[in-house]
Amino acid sequence: MTKILVTGGAGYVGSHACKALAAAGYEPVVFDNLCAGHDWAVKWGPLEEGDLLDRDRIAAVIGAHKPAGAIHFASFAYVGESVTDPGKYWRNNVTGAINLCDALVAADTKAIVFSSSCTVYGLTEAAFISEAEPVAPINPYGNTKRAIEIMLADFETATGMRNTVLRYFNAAGCDADGEIGEVHDPETHLMPLAIAAAAGDRDALKIFGTDYPTPDGTCIRDYIHVTDLADAHVRAVQRMLDGGASDVFNLGAGAGYSVCEVIDAVGRIVGNPVQAIEDGRRAGDPARLVADIAHAQQGLGWQPVHSSLDNIVSTAWNWYRAHAAAGQA
Ligand code: UD1
Repeated sequence: MTKILVTGGAGYVGSHACKALAAAGYEPVVFDNLCAGHDWAVKWGPLEEGDLLDRDRIAAVIGAHKPAGAIHFASFAYVGESVTDPGKYWRNNVTGAINLCDALVAADTKAIVFSSSCTVYGLTEAAFISEAEPVAPINPYGNTKRAIEIMLADFETATGMRNTVLRYFNAAGCDADGEIGEVHDPETHLMPLAIAAAAGDRDALKIFGTDYPTPDGTCIRDYIHVTDLADAHVRAVQRMLDGGASDVFNLGAGAGYSVCEVIDAVGRIVGNPVQAIEDGRRAGDPARLVADIAHAQQGLGWQPVHSSLDNIVSTAWNWYRAHAAAGQA
């Protein structure tokens, strides 16, 4: 079976990608330090515990498994923390990516898919954001994602290692079979917080800003089901292994929902209104971020088929209901 190295494969998006890789006939080899990931989420291939800052360890794992390609998820991803502790983000995200690329090149693995983010576009005002939009990140987390994108291009020039950059919008929802789901500690994302508030398991949700230039005054985001994201990764891997050229793809549903619309959908599906209070704007939040997904549709032959708002909320709620008591939500 063709092996694919998946750094961060014990995490939220990474574990869903492993399930999709296995379904497509690949063996995902997870490399994860388990600082944010969970060993119970590694179900479709071996778990190689290790840290990307340990150059010898990642080189040894790649040397032992000889993967045909790699998907690189492992990264710190709290925007707010990146502002107060930029060194932690640059060291982990960028140095880790350098060590990974060095080890891949040494083993002659010439294809990498990189988990980037719409945050690289910064405060854009485009109604639908295409890959041609200028990149101008506005926080250290976004800067590290952009730095790695640039570094990957340099690696290709020097070594021929091709890359696919996937810029996600807002990953949400959980595996429809309930095998894996979203578990962050601390949790900062809107969808799981709104579900926990509707379930009565936490204090009222704070709505960060009600004075944005949007129809209801709250921020609009493009929520993409994690299963659709996972499918895009498999397609990106297949495309790279077939010799496809390096490219960048935005991954979203191509539709936007406001914070209030998400809260309404969660209340309706959970069967309890979300207790919410209006709060001030959170620093660095653009009013609207919605993807133009035409390039991903064409280049990856991909379609977001699980990403209706109701399906995202339903699958997230099913996971929460089944796992909150076990501490896995
Ligand atoms: C951010 C990043 C994204 C990154 C992700 C990683 C930006 C533009 N986006 O997503 O690239 O991959 O974090 O974690 O930097 N909200 C509330 N109350 C809450 C929580 C959120 O009103 O308690 C609002 C936010 O203001 C935002 C929306 O809900 O408008 C979604 O927020 P969140 O789930 O935190 O994701 P982003 O900040 O969009």
